[in-house]
Amino acid sequence: MSTERLCSVMERELALEFARVTEAAAIACGRWWGRGDNNSADDAAVSAMRRMFDTVNIDGVVVIGEGEMDEAPMLYIGEKVGTGQHVQVDVAVDPLEGTNLVAKGLTGAISVLAVAPKNCLLHAPDMYMEKIAAGPASVGKLSLDASVTENVQIVAKSLDKAVQDVTVVVLDRERHEQIIAELREIGARIKLITDGDVSPAVATCIPGSGVDMVLGIGGAPEGVLAAAALRCMGGEFQGRLWPKNKQEIERAYKLGVLDLKKILTLNDLVKGEDVIFAATGVTDGDFLKGIRYYGNHVTTHTVIMRGASGTIRFLEARHCMDKKSQYVKM
Ligand code: FBP
Repeated sequence: MSTERLCSVMERELALEFARVTEAAAIACGRWWGRGDNNSADDAAVSAMRRMFDTVNIDGVVVIGEGEMDEAPMLYIGEKVGTGQHVQVDVAVDPLEGTNLVAKGLTGAISVLAVAPKNCLLHAPDMYMEKIAAGPASVGKLSLDASVTENVQIVAKSLDKAVQDVTVVVLDRERHEQIIAELREIGARIKLITDGDVSPAVATCIPGSGVDMVLGIGGAPEGVLAAAALRCMGGEFQGRLWPKNKQEIERAYKLGVLDLKKILTLNDLVKGEDVIFAATGVTDGDFLKGIRYYGNHVTTHTVIMRGASGTIRFLEARHCMDKKSQYVKM
């Protein structure tokens, strides 16, 4: 079946199907909130997501997942997902983005995926990526080659704010000392997070989220997931692979990124606008509420976006656990 079918009416239905997939993962791993058990939280999300994918009418291949085939039992890179019928698609998943956040009972964990026609998502290797993300007002104005000060000033001007009113999210890591020092020097507001940089990148495009910009180095797979959302929302995202050693440099070459200084634009990360992004809150975050358990029912909060139409939907769902099929086990 041709990849163009993702533009068809069926695409709308797929959007809801993908919401079901992230909901299932979030419901499963939310149970591990604060229990200090990263692996069990992650395993719960992965198996629930995998089970739900089996019901979706796609011929999908995981291009961003839980690791290479020999590292991960499920949702490994190259694994086929879906019924094997209908559209051929690339699938990027992070069943639990922010494992530590769930294990420690902290805010900002989500279950997330992006799906695009075959060969449209960058098959990003598991390495770091320098990132900058901001909302639609800054499109075409920022550059990873510019200084932190220049980029923040541009965002401030685009949003008609003072630099002191711009909120920048940065992962709290030693490697970001310089960025944090420069942000403090210019007086920007800094939100240091311990984990989970996909959610704040998406939040830059959501009015009222309180996040204007994301800066710093995080996972490259998470970069592609964030780029998929920003593609749907018309935001700005740039990435640049940040390999740590020779092996990672070779991996980047294999991927076809021969110029490691190359700034990867939204189009390099997500080709075209036929992309669907879905994320369900696991713990409360900048724009999604976390899972709530009420005896025999559970509530979820999900955002689903379609790049083709530009529609962004927030979906609050109440799941009656007595009636749930085997796909959502608790
Ligand atoms: P997990 O999904 O593996 O929990 O990773 C979360 C995360 O915080 C990402 O959001 C971020 O991009 C990356 O890890 C940062 O990596 P590191 O913890 O090595 O700095």
